Amino acid sequence: MKTNKFSTATFFAVFFFVFILATSDRVHAAAEICSPLSGTAASSATTQTGPTILPNIFDPHGPPARMIHDLSWLVLGICGGLFILVEGMIFYGVIFYRRKKNDKSKDEPRQVYGSNPVEIAWTIIPLLIVFVLALTTVRTIRSIELTEAPKGALQVVVIGHQWWWEYRYLDASVPGGEVVVANELHVPINRPVWLRLESADVIHSWWVPALAGKMDVIPNHTNHTWFNAETEGLYLGQCAEYCGNQHAGMLLRVVASKPAEFDAWLQTQVAPTVNDTSVAMGRDIFQEYACSNCHTVKGVSDGQFAPDLTHLMSRQTIASGVAPLDPTTLKAWIDNPQALKPGCNMPSLQLDTQELDAVTAYLLTLR
Ligand code: CUA
Repeated sequence: MKTNKFSTATFFAVFFFVFILATSDRVHAAAEICSPLSGTAASSATTQTGPTILPNIFDPHGPPARMIHDLSWLVLGICGGLFILVEGMIFYGVIFYRRKKNDKSKDEPRQVYGSNPVEIAWTIIPLLIVFVLALTTVRTIRSIELTEAPKGALQVVVIGHQWWWEYRYLDASVPGGEVVVANELHVPINRPVWLRLESADVIHSWWVPALAGKMDVIPNHTNHTWFNAETEGLYLGQCAEYCGNQHAGMLLRVVASKPAEFDAWLQTQVAPTVNDTSVAMGRDIFQEYACSNCHTVKGVSDGQFAPDLTHLMSRQTIASGVAPLDPTTLKAWIDNPQALKPGCNMPSLQLDTQELDAVTAYLLTLR
């Protein structure tokens, strides 16, 4: 009996220790992946102001994330308190009620059954705890899951693709009523953002922990979520539903900036496609080869399967946040996408050196 109790306590202690170790390790790993990218700015319109905010539920920067954070601490506090109480009593029993060295009797200790006050206590107290946990959870869920857009919200359609994110800003003032971008979501600070989530293929999950909870992105089904970034910065996140080979390479980036800076960025996305005649050869190759079947460059091609490249150079990264957007990496990516993001749906077009240079030079003009 006593040895059993002791090993249970040891087991929980070791489990708790390993859990802490494992989680701190994950946070460090995320920091290492994310930090090299944070400094690469492609153009002045996208220069990041403010810090890079890592995916961390204990560092909320807006209402839904803060409500989840507060609830997490409440649940952790209650459960941690219970854990310490129960383990403490086990240790107390194990240490102070061991069989004494000189106790030679073979009898079991006195067994105590049936104490009404004790039984009522250990029925009522857990009931109250479960009641508190359930009510606070329901209240939090109800305040996070809105059924319609908050007043004055920026409305964006999020479309999950294997393995990148498409964002369509619903804006009646622009031709077509939409501004289409990929992988880097720009938002103004202190304004609610209402997301309509859809999928082009399988189930994904949109999760930027510092801004909001996870929301699944499901084929043939529309979900909604919202957030309100309170501080400027680059918020990192990650697709949170296993969706195939490059699930881990389906990173989320949300750039929150002052309203004026956001408006300036939006203008760059609405601007007409740059048409630089010095890179006409690259554009022709882009149009004639398979690039144009998947990618849209407004006025040049209208592929729908892959990210819109009309204003490619206004982004900091390529391949959905997997690599920084700079000329060397871009060229390597076009040459052999599978080397950078194994399993992704972009094939190598086996371009020769001259063609590769021309296409790269063309894409580098798409500001
Ligand atoms: Cu998309 Cu995991």
